[in-house]
Amino acid sequence: MTYINDEIIENIKENSDIVSIISDYIHLKKSGSNYVGLCPFHNEKTPSFTVSSTKQIFHCFGCGEGGDILKFIMKKENVDFPDAIKLLANKLGIEIDIEDTKNSTNKDEKEKIYEINKEAARYFLNTLERNKTPLDYLAIRSISKKTRRQFGLGYALNSWDSLYNYLKSKSFSDAEIEKAGLIGKRDNNNGYYDKFRNRIMFPIIDTRARVIGFGGRVMDQKMPKYLNSPDTIVFSKGNHLYGLNLVSKYSNRKRILLVEGYMDVISLFNSGINYAVASLGTALTERQSKIIKRYGDEVYVCYDSDAAGIKATLRAIDTMLKVDLNPKILLLPDGMDPDDYIKRYGPLEFEKLFVNAYNYIDFKIHQLKSEYKIDTLEGKIKFTTEVAKIIRNVKSPIEQDIYIDKISKEVGITREAIEKEIRGNNYNKKSFNYKNKDISEIKPVKSALPPAYYKAEIELIKFMIKEKDYYHYIIERLSIDDFNSKECINIYKQLNILYGSQEIIDEKVLFNKILEIPNLNKNSIDSIFSNSTKYQARDIENIIDDLIKTVTTNNLLMKRDKMLKEIEELEKKSRNAIEDEKFKQLCLDLIHLNNKINLDN
Ligand code: UTP
Ligand code: MN
Repeated sequence: MTYINDEIIENIKENSDIVSIISDYIHLKKSGSNYVGLCPFHNEKTPSFTVSSTKQIFHCFGCGEGGDILKFIMKKENVDFPDAIKLLANKLGIEIDIEDTKNSTNKDEKEKIYEINKEAARYFLNTLERNKTPLDYLAIRSISKKTRRQFGLGYALNSWDSLYNYLKSKSFSDAEIEKAGLIGKRDNNNGYYDKFRNRIMFPIIDTRARVIGFGGRVMDQKMPKYLNSPDTIVFSKGNHLYGLNLVSKYSNRKRILLVEGYMDVISLFNSGINYAVASLGTALTERQSKIIKRYGDEVYVCYDSDAAGIKATLRAIDTMLKVDLNPKILLLPDGMDPDDYIKRYGPLEFEKLFVNAYNYIDFKIHQLKSEYKIDTLEGKIKFTTEVAKIIRNVKSPIEQDIYIDKISKEVGITREAIEKEIRGNNYNKKSFNYKNKDISEIKPVKSALPPAYYKAEIELIKFMIKEKDYYHYIIERLSIDDFNSKECINIYKQLNILYGSQEIIDEKVLFNKILEIPNLNKNSIDSIFSNSTKYQARDIENIIDDLIKTVTTNNLLMKRDKMLKEIEELEKKSRNAIEDEKFKQLCLDLIHLNNKINLDN
């Protein structure tokens, strides 16, 4: 078997462009932000094979095939993974050294450890299924059977040698099992003992589906709470992220969310969030940050909301900045972690955290503010000095300027003083004045995500496409005029026609018809076609109701804004009799509207 090291694989992936490579095989046409063509994996007349250049993946809505460029080549050329790498390297003109002679012993050793780990994972998994205590524990933590299986969770018996004996029965040697980090030598050289005992087991799996190590959690308050495999020749903690195997399999790669713990990743996945990963009980490394960068266009951090978590967030931000990642931060109420939060408030509330995400600069400033008493002179000076350090590292002069302005207003220190602090002795460069700049060049400081109601509209449309019953449920409650997004209105119209036609149509036909609607905005198509949100069937009605409420409330709020403006206008001028009548009516309407908004919420 050929061994190709991970660095080479990363290098090849980074240098290949999926659109140009797939174009060697089939004709692709641009459609929105994606490319479409006739699927090479099944027979079709209308193109449902989509390639995304931003995400570097392909997906066929007809037959369901999908994946990255390597998956495409494996499938299309009917080759295995190493051969796909070689083929791709060849295409790209990258020379790879796959002579294994030098590394071959090392390679065999690695293979052996993968085998042992896989066997161990299988053993833990079977043991879990047969033991009530750990099963009950997972049930109490609301982990579904499906999620449990996805993560391959297991259980290590409360025994000193059951895993050891099992692996010996599979004819692995003591030395091999020890190298995998699963057993330790007993004192006085009297054989071996299992390191993981009486723990829920979390296999750590890489993106090539190999078990590289384990975490194990006690089911009570004993310490240490988690035990992790030691670093071995196949596992070094700073190079891997827990959950990345599933992110690589399921996520649409628009977002990636970094959390602290195993249970956070699992619990989020359990609630339909399939883009969370955790660093493995150590501080985030640059290597991990680089991986994160590849798996999501937008990067979010949501660590535990306690002193340690905040400190770790600040460190993670700095590490990410080193590899040119600008993370956004989700803030949880005091003392909570993502697992607690999503369990208590549900996926929709969790989604709102993204809308209110802090950009990393705001987050840092926010933290400093709670650290120093800025109502004292001393605190004010310290705060400003620290903030100046942060702003100094902001690359864009426009953003720098915005923050200088903000801080100056907030603490009542002149712009000049802050600028001096930032630029030190170099302060004679003329400061950048964004007010004279074309406003469109200024990057928004707050998160640039679409507003919640817009997302709600898209989600509703997705439900309408998914099932005719949902379609009816929704149109009974929302008319076409209730929608604000042009895209959603167009699709709503199209759905009326299609569902009205009495033909039996499936999701795929609907998708294709929707693709034919002229001038659809790329982002909306992307959101509609991505099937990232998975809901539990029993919750769907509640979810739809919530979404409908988001849309209607927003409409009421917009109506109120408009009314307020009109009232303001009329208030200012000297009104004639008709205008005065209108003014009074508007005020009455406003009161009604306010009542309605308050009642609904
Ligand atoms: P937490 O204690 O926050 O874990 O540690 P958690 O995921 O919320 O666990 P639950 O909800 O109590 O089950 C965060 C991460 O730090 C590492 C683990 O990777 C854990 O997931 N850790 C924690 C250890 O490695 N050892 C420990 O003793 C504790
Ligand atoms: Mn927790």
